[in-house]
Amino acid sequence: MTDPFSKCRLPEEFEALAAAGVYPFYLPVEERPGGGEVVVRGRRVLMAGSNDYLALSDDPRLKEAGERALRRLGAGNSGSRALNGTLALHQGLEEELAIFLDHEAAMVVSTGYQANLALNALFGPGDVLLADRHAHASLIDAARLGQAQLRRYRHNDMGQLAELLEAVEPESGAIVLTEGMFSVGGDLCDLPGVAKLAARHGARVVMDSAHDAGLLGAGGRGAAEHHGLQSAVDVQSVTFSKCFGTLGGAVAGPRHVIDYLRHSSRAALFSASLPPACTAAALTALGIIRGEPERRRAVLSAAERLRSGLVALGFAIPAGGTPTVSLRMGDALTCCRFWAGLLEEGVLANVMLPPAVPGRAALIRLSVTAAHTGGQVDRILAAVAAVAARVAPIKD
Ligand SMILES: Cc1ncc(COP(=O)(O)O)c(C=O)c1O
Repeated sequence: MTDPFSKCRLPEEFEALAAAGVYPFYLPVEERPGGGEVVVRGRRVLMAGSNDYLALSDDPRLKEAGERALRRLGAGNSGSRALNGTLALHQGLEEELAIFLDHEAAMVVSTGYQANLALNALFGPGDVLLADRHAHASLIDAARLGQAQLRRYRHNDMGQLAELLEAVEPESGAIVLTEGMFSVGGDLCDLPGVAKLAARHGARVVMDSAHDAGLLGAGGRGAAEHHGLQSAVDVQSVTFSKCFGTLGGAVAGPRHVIDYLRHSSRAALFSASLPPACTAAALTALGIIRGEPERRRAVLSAAERLRSGLVALGFAIPAGGTPTVSLRMGDALTCCRFWAGLLEEGVLANVMLPPAVPGRAALIRLSVTAAHTGGQVDRILAAVAAVAARVAPIKD
């Protein structure tokens, strides 16, 4: 017999990164002074890799709501939603989310990953799942856990989606899986295309709005609202770890589907519920998202400044207007050198390597939030320009 642990080795490429002093993962944040900055390695740097788009994680109202709930209800619920772990707070949040997202009902779970995993109860043996190649790992994991067949289409390629839908056997059910705003590139799903094809073929649409709920659309309801196509999305998942500034997730959709998930989704049934502090913070965040559209305007204007600045530096940035962009770097070592260079310049970005990105891509992911001033965005751009002069990224 071989030792099953013999596979537990880090990729060789990671050794090269460590040897070059540019290993970029698990870097501890020591302080969060706010204002778009964090302290790492004893130095204040600009945070340009956070999904806290509306800068709510630092909002005193969320902190107070969380602290009050923690004191009143405790640090955790010690049980699953189905048994002893449901709070009236969870139910209140579910009602508000369902109204906000324009669905009949919602189910709150403990992370966005878990919200997507919970969807696997929808994926039966007779179903065919058609997933965008850039769909998040948690959607793909949900698909793999279920008994449905998984077929992937090239990113936003409506021609290939049409072919795959045409090939679905008449006795099978078809579900399209996509993100509303894609997490890596920050581009939007071609929802008009998806909606048209799904309607033509009688397919259901499941959309992960982890990045767009709270950010896009006039009311902040996400990519579906942005496209004016809310009714085209049958089931939507969201996370509270991005625009909501805390932790947790939810699935929203028709009442009978959500009730079914409450009783059949193993990811939801067999895991402890969202702690009081996060639940109260998410509910407070939802109120702020509804009442303060200026936060969306602030982050989208910082996004515009970042994007146009990167284009001026010669990077090919796809249209989209969202706060997240990725720069292609060729290989992992170049990418991590670029990351380390940015950090030296006082900017903390994200490195995206497989399996976070498809194929062998190596990307620097930059994002801005409502806390970033125009001057800070310009500092990010100046850092990118300075590092690009030493470490050659791919620009076209
Ligand atoms: C598109 C997408 N879906 C789901 C998740 C999971 O969310 P969470 O971090 O709340 O578990 C993420 C987080 O990275 C994401 O980017």
